[in-house]
Amino acid sequence: MKIFVTGCCGYIGSHTCTLLLEKGYEVVGLDNFSNSKRSVLNKIKKITNKDIIFYEGNMLNKELLDEIFTKNNIDCVIDFAAFKSVGDSVLKPIQYYTNNVNSVLTLLTSMQEHNVKKLIFSSSATVYGNPEFVPITENCEVGNTTNPYGTSKLFTEKILKDLSLADPEFKIIIFRYFNPVGAHKSSLIGEDPLGIPANLMPYICKVANKELDYLNVFGNDYNTKDGTGVRDYIHIMDLADAHIKGIEKLGNSQNGLYIYNLGTGKGYSVLEMINTFEKVNNIKIPYKIAPRRSGDIDECYADSKKANKELNWTCQYNLEDMCKDAYNFIIKNK
Ligand code: UD1
Repeated sequence: MKIFVTGCCGYIGSHTCTLLLEKGYEVVGLDNFSNSKRSVLNKIKKITNKDIIFYEGNMLNKELLDEIFTKNNIDCVIDFAAFKSVGDSVLKPIQYYTNNVNSVLTLLTSMQEHNVKKLIFSSSATVYGNPEFVPITENCEVGNTTNPYGTSKLFTEKILKDLSLADPEFKIIIFRYFNPVGAHKSSLIGEDPLGIPANLMPYICKVANKELDYLNVFGNDYNTKDGTGVRDYIHIMDLADAHIKGIEKLGNSQNGLYIYNLGTGKGYSVLEMINTFEKVNNIKIPYKIAPRRSGDIDECYADSKKANKELNWTCQYNLEDMCKDAYNFIIKNK
């Protein structure tokens, strides 16, 4: 079975590709290296001993997408390709909406023309805004996103809902990711953001690696167990595995649209993250309490029972594994 993976060299895309290849799927990949490195292709090959049929280019390029669908007998598409920096999205809304929404419209147009109607789309827990309740179920109200990145995911979800009503041959899964962290066991691939990281785990790794002096803990007066923000961190390989289960689900379920939260269901505070990282890696993480970051919320963690049940998927890795694997990737790629 051939799977078309957009953003195949990115953080989530690359880890998912290794599992797809290991499970015997053929992978057709697309990436424009806007936030990834070409060397990831060799690393995927090193891990799996298999090649991706790779195309370099942009998802806004309809001719290229048409060529990919014409030359390859694609069964299912996994769409990871998107910009994901919250801060950047506030500064560059046009680029974000173009890249994250127009590109999906281009993809869907090409899919429809080539009669490829199975899609897994990467969305985010960010669509819940400040959630009505925790743990967050898929029925929790979406909206009130606080930045163009989040809104681009919200808009795309709406487009996919409308499409599944208009063209009932489509089978679509929307995955709402919580906070993916960690790296492949080989330490060949992992999270490798350019510049100063915006997210917690990559920032902790840079402090551990002495590239940054200390971590700023954004606020210690939240309404949480210790005052610092609580999130649902999920190991990247568990997240990747959910996509394999998603493909299986699309193969044996009715047409329509399915939405799943992907998290562990457990919330950890920033201080708990620091403590666990220090303990498993035997390293000190200096930190300072800093003002709250604008747009941050108290707590965000998933109720993932729907995915557990309907996809037959459960998380295999715990917080210790996440902290160990994230740091191993950094020290082995110094
Ligand atoms: C952030 C984004 C969210 C996006 C998600 C996935 C914001 C406001 N939200 O979510 O839209 O979907 O990443 O990538 O940017 N923290 C620190 N110090 C740091 C970095 C983070 O204390 O240097 C804290 C944050 O305040 C938060 C927690 O760590 O409480 C996790 O932060 P982060 O990794 O950025 O993830 P989210 O805030 O969940």
